[in-house]
Amino acid sequence: MYVCLEGIDGSGKSTQLAMLGEWLETCGLEVFRVFEPTESPPGLLIREMLTDSKATTPHIQRILGLLFAADRMILMDKIRNAEKQGQIVISDRSFYSSLAYQDDPEWILEINRYIKKPDLVILLDVDAKKALSRFEGKDHFENPKFLKKVRENYLELAQKNNFLVVNANNGVRKVHEDIKIILSPRIGRCV
Ligand code: TYD
Repeated sequence: MYVCLEGIDGSGKSTQLAMLGEWLETCGLEVFRVFEPTESPPGLLIREMLTDSKATTPHIQRILGLLFAADRMILMDKIRNAEKQGQIVISDRSFYSSLAYQDDPEWILEINRYIKKPDLVILLDVDAKKALSRFEGKDHFENPKFLKKVRENYLELAQKNNFLVVNANNGVRKVHEDIKIILSPRIGRCV
């Protein structure tokens, strides 16, 4: 099973992924943790480009779209392998991040055609202003107007693709509990 946490920057994905992983292990599952962008060569290039002041312009967004797709393609082998070994894969972001952050969804779908989609997506939904107050923006995606738009894209994607939405304006423990309530019947453990 491949489970993914999605959400805007500052929605608390990394913290929740760490808590989720620990909980799944206490339930007796073998957990394989992944995050996007990864540390592959395209992933490192992505991190460099995200600090470019023109990161949200259409040209750089297209370059990023391609790099994210390449980075993800490399990651897919590892995910398939983990699943073959019976591990549960939990991921910080997925192909849906590209649909939420980059322009031109049709083209994004095309360049991600061979990417394995997560079995379950949990959207950590948070107000853009609240999210921004949680970190000091270093990347150029971390600005209020852009993040507000990305949040709207996520809510639209959630409706179309049956994401499970968790209110991430709440405190860390409450969000974790909500994630557990969603997941336990689906994994058939720790119910
Ligand atoms: P992020 O999850 O914030 O990584 P980290 O916590 O390690 O900095 O991801 C970095 C940025 O990349 C974030 O602003 C979202 C963006 N992003 C996209 O624009 N498209 C994508 O496909 C992915 C996976 C991420």
